[in-house]
Amino acid sequence: MSEHLHWDPLLIQRYNRPGPRYTSYPTAVEFLPVESDQPEQDAYTQRDPNRPLSLYLHIPFCRHVCYYCGCNKIVTRDMDRALPYLDLLKQEIKAKHAMLKTADDGQLAPVEQLHLGGGTPTFLTDDQLRDLMDYLKALFRFSESDTADFSIEIDPRELRPGTLTLLREMGFNRVSYGVQDLNPKVQEAVNRVQPESMVRDVMSQARALGFRSINIDLIYGLPHQTLESFDATLSAIIELRPDRLSIFNYAHLPERFKPQRRINGDDLPPADEKLAILGRCITRLSEAGYHYVGMDHFALPEDELAVAQSRGELHRNFQGYTTHGNCDLLGFGISSISQIGDYYLQNRVTEATYAEALNADSLPTWKQRQVTTDDLIRRRVITELLCHLTLSYDQLDQEFTIESREYLADSLERLHPMRDDGLVDLTSNAIRITDKGRLLVRNACMAFDTYLQHHEQQRFSKAI
Ligand SMILES: C[S@@+](CC[C@H](N)C(=O)[O-])C[C@H]1O[C@@H](n2cnc3c(N)ncnc32)[C@H](O)[C@@H]1O
Ligand code: SF4
Repeated sequence: MSEHLHWDPLLIQRYNRPGPRYTSYPTAVEFLPVESDQPEQDAYTQRDPNRPLSLYLHIPFCRHVCYYCGCNKIVTRDMDRALPYLDLLKQEIKAKHAMLKTADDGQLAPVEQLHLGGGTPTFLTDDQLRDLMDYLKALFRFSESDTADFSIEIDPRELRPGTLTLLREMGFNRVSYGVQDLNPKVQEAVNRVQPESMVRDVMSQARALGFRSINIDLIYGLPHQTLESFDATLSAIIELRPDRLSIFNYAHLPERFKPQRRINGDDLPPADEKLAILGRCITRLSEAGYHYVGMDHFALPEDELAVAQSRGELHRNFQGYTTHGNCDLLGFGISSISQIGDYYLQNRVTEATYAEALNADSLPTWKQRQVTTDDLIRRRVITELLCHLTLSYDQLDQEFTIESREYLADSLERLHPMRDDGLVDLTSNAIRITDKGRLLVRNACMAFDTYLQHHEQQRFSKAI
């Protein structure tokens, strides 16, 4: 077991309750519907033009459906489906670009991070990918710094020969491969047959092309997974030595995600086996030298995420853990979320409503939230706990000119059961997540989430 993690299945089971992943605070469920373009325009007007930019483009198309999938995607084999979408995407990019003010040097602030996510961005043809990147590069100034991150999510089954080379030529330096599980029976049950040899091939191609960082996504809790079967998947993956690993927990919510209705609930591993799989992941990855960053993410110690964490420079936003917390995040495409100054803004989620807004020369914003000072204080606490496992009251006092121990008294009291279980240390200077509490850090964050407390109170009063 890692020197920084303590595995206690009974405690984990006891604290196991659904909760936010805190890629934002307030979380997206608190965003409010917009009635006009005004909030988005206000966000751009109030934005500090010197802040660098992080761009997220959502490419929703997939050629096949994976039955577990909870992403916002459009499943189609019709390649022409992407054409009108790309036109709309460019229209949105152009409209938002026109709202950006220039920085003190007279230019637009540089783009330090770009991420193409989905869906499956390589659903787009090579020409479409090139055209999209040319379009972006004509408008924005892409940073040439060594720390700039240009990344793309890739389904290994949807990678044409030559596409990786093209991506590298266009400046992408990170890839994230969706793998999920290598066991054939599991793959069949989720309709994602993807031989191990294919994963090996795409890994070695990316290495040969000099991608700086390769991430692999796995999921635990899929149908027919057993401790032994997932152990074998882990052995193969560890041998491939990705720089980062995301190990997501499969939550079976067929009433919410239609494709999941094709998964037979009886085929899912029972709760104790699922927990044992997670335990095995942690042991195996720690033994293989991976560092647990937090919230499903592992990285090799030399990876920038692990380094940033050790330096106290890690951030968390809609990109998950990131080293680019200094950027304003501009989202494009259906369901994408922007974080600009004090604003969170989310786009409409369906292709039809997204098109309707843009065709009416409006922005496709669906929801927004302007954060309050209280949100900022709590966001700081949550981010520090998730990223660095500790929060110094003095720092918070200085940053927000408050007496934080008093200000957060109610939330701190809610941490007492976790303190009594040895999961957090509450000293006179700081809150610290213990090694025993690392896998439950989200529960500690939930104590500071006033919206969650409010909803829970409402639910409680309804129940009685
Ligand atoms: C947009 S996909 C990645 C790119 C590409 N579409 C692919 O599947 O290879 C993002 C990731 O979300 C994860 N994911 C999707 N649905 C999930 C679910 N219901 N539970 C847990 N993880 C899920 C998968 O690990 C997947 O690789
Ligand atoms: S996991 Fe990836 S490829 Fe599969 S349906 Fe979801 S977005 Fe598409």
